[in-house]
Amino acid sequence: MKIAVFISGNGSNLQALIDAEKNGNLSEGKISLVVSDNAEAYGLERAKKADIETFVLENVNFSSREQYDEVIIEQLKAEGIELVVLAGFMRILSKDFIDAYEGKILNIHPSLLPSFKGAHGIKDAFKYGVKVTGVTTHFVTEELDAGPIILQKAINVEERDTLDTIEEKIHKEEHILYPETVRLFVEGKIDIKGNKVRIKN
Ligand code: GRF
Repeated sequence: MKIAVFISGNGSNLQALIDAEKNGNLSEGKISLVVSDNAEAYGLERAKKADIETFVLENVNFSSREQYDEVIIEQLKAEGIELVVLAGFMRILSKDFIDAYEGKILNIHPSLLPSFKGAHGIKDAFKYGVKVTGVTTHFVTEELDAGPIILQKAINVEERDTLDTIEEKIHKEEHILYPETVRLFVEGKIDIKGNKVRIKN
């Protein structure tokens, strides 16, 4: 199954997926393309190092989200991409994109959804003073950070934790949870009914 991973920055989750594939932990999944909206994204270096094709499309020449997404959809279709994995991609996808890949777009979010949606999940949860936070993988729908939840992992916030230590713990769990989620998808083990996901064993 051909996978495209979308990034905007560091790409540590991309790296976890690359490593998982290399170690045989993505089943028949193959990361065939890395898409970035930022030419400076460090994740692009990771892709090149792993010999994965990259496609960089910056926003500057597009007057609408739909126009931008149209170019990406064309590229994905041309390459036969069957699964889109968002890994720190900082753009919201248009309805056209979501329709084109309905049920085939995954995201990872650094909080226990539906709490602390948005771009600053880790910081927002920490500042709020929660005792438990975590990581969520989910399907992408039109509503931001609200699609069916696939896997979640809770992380305790201890009194000695700082924003830095919590970030570290979250990223560590992300790098386990995302490859696991992608593998389940590739193996056809994820069933969606309404907003609920059931994992087949
Ligand atoms: C991760 O925390 C992910 O949950 C969020 O964006 C961050 C991306 O980090 N959606 P990286 O680029 O994979 O290191």
